[in-house]
Amino acid sequence: MIAADVFTASPADVLREADRRRTFAVISHPDAGKSTLTEALALHARVISEAGAVHGKSGRRGVVSDWMEMEKARGISITSAALQFAYGDAVVNLLDTPGHADFSEDTYRVLAAVDSAVMLLDAAKGLEPQTLKLFDVCRHRGIPVITFINKWDRPGRDALELCDELVDRIGLQPMPLTWPVGDAGHFRGVLDRRDGHFIRYARTAGGATVAGQERLDPHAAEAQEGDEWRRAVEEADLLAASGGNFDLQRFLDASATPVLFGSAVLNFGVRHLLDLLVELAPRPEPRADLHGRARALDAPFSAFVFKVQTGMDPSHRDQVAFARVCSGVFERGMIVTNATTGKPFATKYVQQVFGQQRSTLDTAYPGDVIGLVNATSLRVGDTLYTDKPAVRFPGLPSFAPVHFAVVRPLDLGRSKQFRKGIEQLGSEGVVQILRSPRRGDGAPVFAAVGPMQFEVAAHRLDAEFKSPVRLDRLPYTVVRRLTDPAHRAVVDNNRGEVLTRDDGTHLALFSDSTALGVLKRLHPEVPLEPLVAGTD
Ligand code: G4P
Repeated sequence: MIAADVFTASPADVLREADRRRTFAVISHPDAGKSTLTEALALHARVISEAGAVHGKSGRRGVVSDWMEMEKARGISITSAALQFAYGDAVVNLLDTPGHADFSEDTYRVLAAVDSAVMLLDAAKGLEPQTLKLFDVCRHRGIPVITFINKWDRPGRDALELCDELVDRIGLQPMPLTWPVGDAGHFRGVLDRRDGHFIRYARTAGGATVAGQERLDPHAAEAQEGDEWRRAVEEADLLAASGGNFDLQRFLDASATPVLFGSAVLNFGVRHLLDLLVELAPRPEPRADLHGRARALDAPFSAFVFKVQTGMDPSHRDQVAFARVCSGVFERGMIVTNATTGKPFATKYVQQVFGQQRSTLDTAYPGDVIGLVNATSLRVGDTLYTDKPAVRFPGLPSFAPVHFAVVRPLDLGRSKQFRKGIEQLGSEGVVQILRSPRRGDGAPVFAAVGPMQFEVAAHRLDAEFKSPVRLDRLPYTVVRRLTDPAHRAVVDNNRGEVLTRDDGTHLALFSDSTALGVLKRLHPEVPLEPLVAGTD
């Protein structure tokens, strides 16, 4: 084992490396083009030579079943966690936010590990439900967001209308940096609002290689594109009049978003996005500990675990803990301390996960993500550090659940194992555990952000604790926080149910908003608070 003190990176090296990092996630609704954009970004950074290599075109569908099967077959997780690539002098870390049916608390937790986000919208659809949920988390955490309006190569909505939607629905001021020339479906290129030039894109076969682009001055653009160009210029002028000019401070304080138009599949606008990330997106900053004291970037190594993936096959039990480096330099072989338990953890096996390939990682700096293998003792929210001063970062919040199911042991002879398993899954954050005196200890309620969390929890109770279970879904869709439990009976007697989470939060559940409305009308004195998606 290598001792921590032989590592050579100086504080200045660490600061320089941190300054090169741009750590972000793409937030989007399924099908908006996240996989395609990820590939296009990697293509521009020359990590892959042809689009389709990261996720595999045919592998994009049925992510859930692939995941479960792979987990079972190999006992490891193959879902990618972070894609790292160099772009110019920058090092870009793109963290994956699981989408589709594997949407879960992990999806939100990833946002605790990024410095910025790219909100990817389908030009024909605008803001969609999953995007809104993820944006909610970004807003709450104050994460600056860049908006990329995708699929401009095919018919879609009007560009100004899409911008208005950002203001009207989420109160986010759009600051378009490019403006499309040609309607959705007739995409010629974009007006670069920063210098008034026209960037004309050229198609490549199937969008599989980096798209060519040409920069024309306004006169040449007008001569070539005529009315389309003049319309783009007029609309861009309208934006300037309505507060749509770029303001770096408003981007950084997350009250406004730079907007780009493009087509991930044709690689149009993707280079602009990368350039923008490198130029404007925030670098890693010192992270505040539990006491609000910031840990300097060049302090000794520290990181926090934001995601834990456990192998689904008990014969290949493997757990990978993904941690974001907050300070110092990480080098493989270091012995780190887990601040929660005070115990040492040897980091012999560390990896970087890239698409479906894993490679061993040797060094990491603030902003990077490390995957610690065989990390059965690590939990979501744990802080890791080497050397004094010791540090503990705040844990990750639990998120507003929207799916609920009663869980009962099938084998009553194994109720001890059942209880142990429930405790374990709750402490790992696999699912949230809710209880009530009425339901008793033998029938707790699982609560989750996505139903996939139930499958994972049931599978683990069976495989690891030998306690097979039955899950019965509860028909609740609306949840509020009951801030005073003295009102519990009133809710229980009026079409709701109050359950208490492990952390002591009382949740009032209702089948729908009508049921909630009835209670509010009859008992306006009951103190109910909405839960923000990412913050309950
Ligand atoms: P996701 O990860 O966000 O779920 O989306 P994904 O990239 O898988 O893209 C969803 C569909 O949208 C895919 O089509 C993809 O090709 C298409 N798409 C992505 N970006 C663009 C774009 O800029 N323009 C157009 N026109 N289409 C785009 P599919 O037919 O479902 O799959 P595939 O067979 O093309 O892979």
